[in-house]
Amino acid sequence: MSKRPNIWAAVTAASFSLALVTAPMATASPAPSTAQNSVNQLLPSSSSHLPLIPLASKPAPPRDPEKINVLVNKVYPLVPRKYTPKLRTISGTDVRLRPEAAAAYKKLLAAARKDGVRIRLTSGYRSYSVQAGLLEKYTRAYGLDYALRIAARPGTSEHQTGLAIDVGNPSRACALRDCFATTKVGRWMAKKAPKYGFILRYPEGQESVTGYKYEPWHFRFVGVTQAKSMAGFKSLEHYYGVSKASTKTPKTSKSAQGTKITTANLNLRTGPSTSESIIKTVKKGSKVQLAGKSSGVWIKVKHGGKTGWMSSEYLR
Ligand code: DAL
Ligand code: ZN
Repeated sequence: MSKRPNIWAAVTAASFSLALVTAPMATASPAPSTAQNSVNQLLPSSSSHLPLIPLASKPAPPRDPEKINVLVNKVYPLVPRKYTPKLRTISGTDVRLRPEAAAAYKKLLAAARKDGVRIRLTSGYRSYSVQAGLLEKYTRAYGLDYALRIAARPGTSEHQTGLAIDVGNPSRACALRDCFATTKVGRWMAKKAPKYGFILRYPEGQESVTGYKYEPWHFRFVGVTQAKSMAGFKSLEHYYGVSKASTKTPKTSKSAQGTKITTANLNLRTGPSTSESIIKTVKKGSKVQLAGKSSGVWIKVKHGGKTGWMSSEYLR
């Protein structure tokens, strides 16, 4: 349950400084995203005040805001920051979404209705200036540190892509609070949204990776194919292999023994880095033998007669 009240309003932008730095270095790149990554590379054009992100050794996550699978977060801002998508108003609301997301939302809404669930759409596209006002309002209410845990800086919000939605119950029960997850709409969305291409974008316990507190009401359209292939990944950052805050070379240790089960399709690589070659992709649900070595999030394993390294984040 959130301790603080929610306030939504529009004022002007606060100053910029990044609170979170996740660098796309330390985790395994999930097998399904490789092809999408390689076709959508686009470096930031106006990021002089951002931390430099080492992108050289692996494909960058999708940056083109025209693509429905674009990654937008504190480290990967929108390029350009004032990008405006094509928009369509969702009937019966004043919420606007990108046509692809709007069409998918319509299907989702119809399916929910069939299941006896009424969804209230509370937010979709937000312009740069509306986002700026939102952050400013939260900053006034709670201070910048806390505000940045619940609202994105303008230029870095998924709402600016027209691909993100905030949903609620018609009764407004638990609106924008953690307990939304336990409500009828919250439970239905968590279970069914991926079928319509929407993923829960800010899961519980992933703030150090996503940059935001748990938001069980915020869903992001990534397309049906990707949403389904993301099952087993903790977040979009994990899926794109940009989930680690540190760029330091991890220390090696010799503790890892026994067997584990893969919870996603995982690339087995020749070394503990996404820049190492892929030996093969090990299917989700496979048993792997730990080979007694780890390096940061990477772990050495044996599978089907091959030995290599994979991310321990997707082993149980
Ligand atoms: N609340 C989400 C993080 C946003 O402001 O985009
Ligand atoms: Zn949202």
